[in-house]
Amino acid sequence: MLNKQFHRDQFPGLHQEVNGKPLVYLDNAATAQRPQMVLDAINDYYINHNANIHRGVHSLSESATDLYENARKSLAKLLNAPSEKDLIFVRGCTEAVNLVAQTFVRSRVSKGDEILISHLEHHSNIVPWQLLCEQTGAVLKVIPMNDAGELCVDQLDDLLTEKTKFMSVVHVSNALGTINPVKEVVTKAHAKGVPVMLDGAQATPHLKVDVQDLDCDFYTVSGHKMYGPTGSGVLFGKAEHLNAMPPYHGGGEMISKVTFESTVYNAVPAKFEAGTPNIAGGIGLGAAAEFMMSIGMENIEQRDAELRVYAEQALAKVPGLRMLGTAKHKSPVFSFNIEGIHAHDIGTIIDHHGVAVRTGHHCTMPIFEYFGVAGSCRASFAFYNTEQDVDILVESLLKAIEMFK
Ligand SMILES: Cc1ncc(COP(=O)(O)O)c(C=O)c1O
Repeated sequence: MLNKQFHRDQFPGLHQEVNGKPLVYLDNAATAQRPQMVLDAINDYYINHNANIHRGVHSLSESATDLYENARKSLAKLLNAPSEKDLIFVRGCTEAVNLVAQTFVRSRVSKGDEILISHLEHHSNIVPWQLLCEQTGAVLKVIPMNDAGELCVDQLDDLLTEKTKFMSVVHVSNALGTINPVKEVVTKAHAKGVPVMLDGAQATPHLKVDVQDLDCDFYTVSGHKMYGPTGSGVLFGKAEHLNAMPPYHGGGEMISKVTFESTVYNAVPAKFEAGTPNIAGGIGLGAAAEFMMSIGMENIEQRDAELRVYAEQALAKVPGLRMLGTAKHKSPVFSFNIEGIHAHDIGTIIDHHGVAVRTGHHCTMPIFEYFGVAGSCRASFAFYNTEQDVDILVESLLKAIEMFK
């Protein structure tokens, strides 16, 4: 159940003043605020369980290991993964994409082979593939988008050829909010024998994600977008892939036997978790998953939809506002420009009214190239935002327009 005021009150970061005004935090797509439960879990680890994991026989090490491994179980439950062993703790989506590019895809591509992404990708799902193409001679292909910022799924059948060896597509666009029809995309790719990774950075804070239902080969999760700590995240991979893939990083923890001649690797997921991990981060992320499940993802989806409709209608009344991304299915993310005012100026002016939005290209330069602009002002909502936040955003935009008259 979502209790709007009660759950909003769980986020101490929301209850502060900025520039003498109550904070209106609308930069959730960049990073969300953290609930008390996550902050408490991190503190509790450092105060009461601080020890390295998986190695010690002493009690503290065992309790820290339990907390960390329970967090993995919570995340498996959130994603409906078949087993928690299918989840690798990573620093975030960026690391997850690089890991898959270098350990799964690299050995499968050679000169002239193709990797398919979409026009809606974050740079972190573009650059790792460009690096791989430079290393292997593979070619990067892009599924186009239309003027609404929707994926041209009808072009997939032509783009998926016998040369296509892998596809990686964003589930929800951070710049436009578009929710891609990823289940359909996965089905089409699998019909041609192409494995698929989905970038879930902006999906897990908003949608009920079921990796078994999606049938994706890999799914990436960014902790800090879903109310968890920065530098935390998980990569889901189908067990058959994870077991067959070579390790990404070498070091302690990912081995079962080392001699100077050779090394026997540890089983999955330890094989991919070299070195001391971000233990507090993993535990905090597990708490974030529990927090979201205690509200219910269906309830979060419903609240998102209410806020999206309210904000869409309110922003439509702002004179000179051009909305970028008008997909039929979208999360409450609004990218816009206002005629005659630079996005950075808007961001700076409304900050004086306590309103935090992001300005710029949002790490998606090709999207803005498509629209013929350098960037936008982006207001991105979380379930804890309110209709009043929308009203204050609109009032502050009207004041900015007034200033530039
Ligand atoms: C759609 C999308 N993918 C990937 C990333 C990168 O995620 P991380 O910060 O976890 O590396 C982001 C972050 O903004 C994002 O919005």
